[in-house]
Amino acid sequence: MGVLGPNVLLLGMAIGMAMVTLVASNDNLRVAYQWNQIDYEFPGGNDDRAEAIRSGAYVPENVIPVGLEVYKKRLFLTLPRWKPGIPASLAYININGDKIQQNMPMLELSAVNQLPSGQASNLGGTKHSGQAPLNVSPVRCCCCCKVFHQEGPEAFSAPQSSAPLITHLSSLGRRTPRLSEKDDDRLYVADFEKLLQLAQTSDRQQQQQQQESSAQSSRSRREGPELDKKRASPSRRHRQPVASRWPDHTTTQSPKLRPYPSWNAHRQMGDEEAPEIVSPFRIRADRCGRLWVLDTGVSDLLGETKVLAPTSLLVYDLHNDNLLRRFKFPADHIKESSFYANIAVEDTDCDDTFAYAADLGAPGLVVYSWKLQESWRVQHHFFHPDPLAGNYTITGISFQWDDGLFGIALSRPQSDGFATLYFHPLSSTNEFSVSTRILRNQTLATSDKIYREFKVLGSRGPNGQAGVAFLDQKTGVIFYALPNLNAVTCWKTSNRAYTIKSLGRVYMSVTDMVFPNDVKVDDESNLWVLSDRLHQYMYSSLDPKDVNFRILTATVKDAIENTACDTKIKPLPDIITNLGDILRPSTTTVPPKTKSAASSVLTSLAVLAVAALAKLLL
Ligand SMILES: *[C@@H]1O[C@H](CO)[C@@H](O)[C@H](O)[C@H]1NC(C)=O
Ligand SMILES: *[C@@H]1O[C@H](CO)[C@@H](O)[C@H](O)[C@H]1NC(C)=O
Repeated sequence: MGVLGPNVLLLGMAIGMAMVTLVASNDNLRVAYQWNQIDYEFPGGNDDRAEAIRSGAYVPENVIPVGLEVYKKRLFLTLPRWKPGIPASLAYININGDKIQQNMPMLELSAVNQLPSGQASNLGGTKHSGQAPLNVSPVRCCCCCKVFHQEGPEAFSAPQSSAPLITHLSSLGRRTPRLSEKDDDRLYVADFEKLLQLAQTSDRQQQQQQQESSAQSSRSRREGPELDKKRASPSRRHRQPVASRWPDHTTTQSPKLRPYPSWNAHRQMGDEEAPEIVSPFRIRADRCGRLWVLDTGVSDLLGETKVLAPTSLLVYDLHNDNLLRRFKFPADHIKESSFYANIAVEDTDCDDTFAYAADLGAPGLVVYSWKLQESWRVQHHFFHPDPLAGNYTITGISFQWDDGLFGIALSRPQSDGFATLYFHPLSSTNEFSVSTRILRNQTLATSDKIYREFKVLGSRGPNGQAGVAFLDQKTGVIFYALPNLNAVTCWKTSNRAYTIKSLGRVYMSVTDMVFPNDVKVDDESNLWVLSDRLHQYMYSSLDPKDVNFRILTATVKDAIENTACDTKIKPLPDIITNLGDILRPSTTTVPPKTKSAASSVLTSLAVLAVAALAKLLL
């Protein structure tokens, strides 16, 4: 310590802070496809379509995409039978990969990225603009509401006060749309110089760093007004229409869907007769070329619910689209309020594959062994919803859900050959994990001796309820859909901390990301996100004149660049993160300068300082 002296330490801290500040997001996703309403390629063309509409077999406003998967050049969507008039509940489009990857500019004309969900009502492109929030109750759960009705619109209830996660994500902000590598550099340098200047001039703050105890209060004092100012600033609300910088070949891509695997698989012969596929929510294509379809077997979920078939796993061969296997869940897996909406597949060994299905209604996890052709049901306290985390407000619509186990995401095999399953209930802000070593052993998994094998990782904080989660095995980054915040966030599983601050902001928008509903990474490391305004579909109605469903994409690399999940950035020791907060400048602005020799020297110095600091700390 004495050798290095306070100046070096300070510099080191400034670097720590620089790294923290660089953890800002790009909101790099772009809209690849978008629809006002979902349409299909009917076998007999327009006549067929007209007949389907006339007979009620196709009710365009009732079709909503909920699940997404990408395998090779096909993008699959599930269109569950919530309401009548769904001609096919699993369908696909062919991806014109090159077009999307290279020529498809960002469609973000009206992206508003700063606002918490409660403030969306007068900005978003939804029907509810300016209206009082609807209060909707009672609702049993997200996906199995047999009973629901609207009581609104009621007296205006104020949006929830800005909660920590939204504060954090908003403060990460969005950088100026990227123009070139050079501009990016400039941003880095600007941040960096700002930090150095701060470190060199502020004695007062130097004292503050040593008083860790006062850190908390000073942080909130400084951050509060700053954020409010940002929100109020019109220039941050109304972004430059970026699309105008591109030629006008950017028009909507709204392809018609083709049923999977065929029209026949969706044809219902009699009223009580089940088609091959009834109503899947989420699907998963494994690395062995199989498509796993988790079919709830229930039709007209929001109306006169009919159970046409027991919950089943259908497994298709993606090479020829043949049905390889149908596995019906045994009766004891299906409790009174069971509802299986999500699936994860551990495909390390194609012959010894395990599928995991999450029961959100009667919280539990079904483990299915492909080899044994057998399944068992696992229970744990951590699968249950948090009774205090079931209040949602999205684009001015308030509702309450009490869904249990929902997001399930698998890591790649750990040193013992077993994956880690990361999981959370929907109505909860906590994240948990368990090794599949426990789950895959039927004796163990169904015994009462495994309580301690399940770990609590941490909390995403108020409004941090997450729906679907997906883990990209190449980077070890989990992506989360956060409906309450109109956001997709990420967390790097190599990060020891699971806190609000260790979450990165991938994308946030009250137009493009209203109810993010599914998230996947394909085998070419592209991230795909489906947003679908589900709450509006359920509690109000979708406007056919509006874009309601969007599929956004980016490479994983671009999606996590400059976020807390960027694999180039090593997780910081907590102490540096905290000091960064104390030092965080509130009003200082330094005009950007181009990268100079001087700043390169500073960079080298900084690296040295960090190394020295690391030594001190370890
Ligand atoms: C639920 O959220 C709404 C909107 O933010 C709020 O007005 C209401 O008080 C909350 N209800 C409960 C029980 O927390
Ligand atoms: C399953 O777990 C039990 C109890 O720990 C153990 O005795 C048994 O060997 C395990 N079975 C397998 C196949 O690993």
